[in-house]
Amino acid sequence: MKTPLFFQLDSLSEPALAAEAAAGLAGAAAVVSPKFFYDALGSRLFDVITELDEYYPTRTEAGILASQGAAIVDAALSCCGPAPVLVDLGAGNCAKAARLFPALAPRRYVAIDISVDFLRGSLEALQREHPTLDLAGVGQDFSARLALPPHLTHLVDGGALVFYPGSSIGNFAPAEALRLLRDARALAKQGSESGGLLIGADLVKDPRRLERAYDDTLGVTAAFNLNLLRRLNALIGADFDLRQWRHVARFDTQHSRIEMHLEARQSLVVRWPGGERQFTTGERIHTENSYKWQPEAFEALLREAGYGTVRRFTDPEGWFGVFVARA
Ligand code: AVJ
Repeated sequence: MKTPLFFQLDSLSEPALAAEAAAGLAGAAAVVSPKFFYDALGSRLFDVITELDEYYPTRTEAGILASQGAAIVDAALSCCGPAPVLVDLGAGNCAKAARLFPALAPRRYVAIDISVDFLRGSLEALQREHPTLDLAGVGQDFSARLALPPHLTHLVDGGALVFYPGSSIGNFAPAEALRLLRDARALAKQGSESGGLLIGADLVKDPRRLERAYDDTLGVTAAFNLNLLRRLNALIGADFDLRQWRHVARFDTQHSRIEMHLEARQSLVVRWPGGERQFTTGERIHTENSYKWQPEAFEALLREAGYGTVRRFTDPEGWFGVFVARA
């Protein structure tokens, strides 16, 4: 049996993360990156979100991959050639990618996530099911930049398929999404003339349905959002009192995005070592954007990022798009 290889890039030191979070809190308009949602409890709350009746993206994407999987994998293989290296962005538990293994027959699986520690258990379990497959786990915060350092580029030699499911691309404003898609294309083509991208994007729909997906009746998304304050208390030593805050999720038609905020229920002061901030009643901390795309606009974005042929797969209601693009 082989063993997975693990690499941690740009070490995300706690002090650096804490400084980033504190700077966001202290800014003119308070804003904290959604990457701070995913501590141990936040990751579990997100898993629960994906099971909620109102949160359609995960199950809709899974439905598209299950019912049109053969055509999707054919399209992907025509971009990157047989037995590609499968590069999984935000791999987490690696379950979505593992479902592609039988049809795709990848030569190697490279899982990338913000912390290599998230990947250890998943890849070790996966290795037991696929004893002869080359597995690698890479810890990288690709929200800033996606690229393998020179000593790791051999991992993608021979043409790669970059897999970015779940509509996580929605966390990026169009200009940053373009940058990430360009990086993904460069990575897919790095070791060869051919490569591909298999990506999920959530599509524009009735704003009420969108808002319900981000403000569910059980209050799980509210807990997920409020958990950010717990995380900040632990990370920067702040004294947020969660009872003083409420969850807000609104669709902004102009930007075509769901915005999540935490809103102060009363005027209050938050203190942390080295800083403090006053909030007036109704003042907000912006915690997440989740962009919703028109399918044609997402295809145009892919082309602007340099991709060739693009194929689109959707569910019957057109709620979610799975796109396969030639790098
Ligand atoms: C993980 C970024 C795809 O935007 O739908 C779910 C995160 N936030 N509910 C999304 C999220 C609130 C999710 N992504």
